[in-house]
Amino acid sequence: MKKPSYYIGADLGTSSLKLLLVDGEGKILRCVYRGYPVSYPQPGFSEQDPGLFRDAFFSGVPELLSGFDRTAVAGVGIAGQMHGLVILDREDRPIRPVILWNDGRTAAETERLNGEFGRGKLARLTGNIAFAGFTAPKLLWLREHEPENFSRIEKIMLPKDYLTYLLTGVHATDPSDASGTLLYDVAKRRWSGEMIDYCGIREEMLPKVYESYETVGGVRREIADLLGIPEGTPVVGGAGDNAAAAVGMGVVREGLCNISLGTSGTVFLPLSRFAADPTGALHAFADATGGFHLMGCILSAASCQSWFCESVLGHTDFAAEAAAVPEELIGRNPVFFLPYLMGERSPINDTAARGVFLGMTPKTGRSHLYLSVLEGVAFAIRDNIEVARRLGVCPDESFLCGGGARSALWRRILAAVLNMPMLLPAAEEGPGYGAAMLAMVGAGAYRTVADCAARVASLRAKVLPEEGLVRLYEERYQKYRLIYPALKELYPKLL
Ligand code: XUL
Repeated sequence: MKKPSYYIGADLGTSSLKLLLVDGEGKILRCVYRGYPVSYPQPGFSEQDPGLFRDAFFSGVPELLSGFDRTAVAGVGIAGQMHGLVILDREDRPIRPVILWNDGRTAAETERLNGEFGRGKLARLTGNIAFAGFTAPKLLWLREHEPENFSRIEKIMLPKDYLTYLLTGVHATDPSDASGTLLYDVAKRRWSGEMIDYCGIREEMLPKVYESYETVGGVRREIADLLGIPEGTPVVGGAGDNAAAAVGMGVVREGLCNISLGTSGTVFLPLSRFAADPTGALHAFADATGGFHLMGCILSAASCQSWFCESVLGHTDFAAEAAAVPEELIGRNPVFFLPYLMGERSPINDTAARGVFLGMTPKTGRSHLYLSVLEGVAFAIRDNIEVARRLGVCPDESFLCGGGARSALWRRILAAVLNMPMLLPAAEEGPGYGAAMLAMVGAGAYRTVADCAARVASLRAKVLPEEGLVRLYEERYQKYRLIYPALKELYPKLL
């Protein structure tokens, strides 16, 4: 009998590392999770120790493979949270905790980039304007606030690239993750010399860019021995989590759309050729197939539900909370919630924004508040879809993935708020599954990412918008849209 081939797909998320073992036909054989905390050293700051990533990976992989023939592992693909600044010194030691994608400390640097340096110039050099979570503003912040750390930088990488580096010894990244640094000329798929100079770094500090499905190197002997997998097992470039999720969903051509409700919420729209959003609200990034996409990112999505249930109500039984929502309240909730717990990225680009409940009366109970949290996230996603529609990118349905997609109530709300069918994939683990698919392509099991997607990505169910709810939510959304503009000037005064 022919020996099977196994692929490891990893998703280095913000709240956990998810590892998948997948066979060559795309069947998921096992999933292993390793949770880790985020630290918030000051309001608006968000950091993680890269040692957590390493420990999660090296303790998780043996559990993933236990009972399977480890010598059959034919490839590794890693997806991960984007934009985080990982810096190593001359001895390859992390210099400080990673400054994450949802960290808002760089308001001044972001303003300087968009103002003094110039939005037009940024757009010309990188395809994008500056957002606080991007990597370049973090480098400017570090140069100013931690000059000693800045002077010790030998290597700069994104979070998932740290794992690739530990596995292969190759300092590599991929175009989708490089896109989120604001140091990369997305349209030309190469680092931007001018951005590098402006940030006071050298190009040798940056990783070499490989396509997401290209093999960057093989697993080093000591690591292979430790994990029990063959020495030299190919590791591909991998992808930012959203680009990997799109692959996992089969969202690999223009016209399709993927929405992810993870810690962040994203709208991912593949493009057949590079095009930027002239308003700068949506990101214009490279994808994991060799092409491009537009993306909107809200900083707090499923994390709003976790925050409200865990920190406010003191439990984690989301399903019970959803089950307690009276049916007649859905679409008629007088309470609004703005989901800006970490400030907001797309489309408002406002680090000073914060979460808000509005519209309470003596009749307001926990179900009103809980429901408003789910609705507020759906409205914030709609804000991004509206920008895309204004640009002429009008998907008529969308895939849905991420932890929040497990909520049947949230799926109904999203379908109604967006007035679009929500497509649920067979493999729920979007980014990890996409990463495993990239590993299959890298190992030669499929010729292209699109071929692989056509073969392995499949649909489980479709949630159709309910007509009555669409009408009710259209009204609610038009009211929701009035809230942020009324608070915009107030927010900075409250900091
Ligand atoms: C995308 C973004 C987030 C992170 C979260 O631009 O910042 O989706 O990748 O994992």
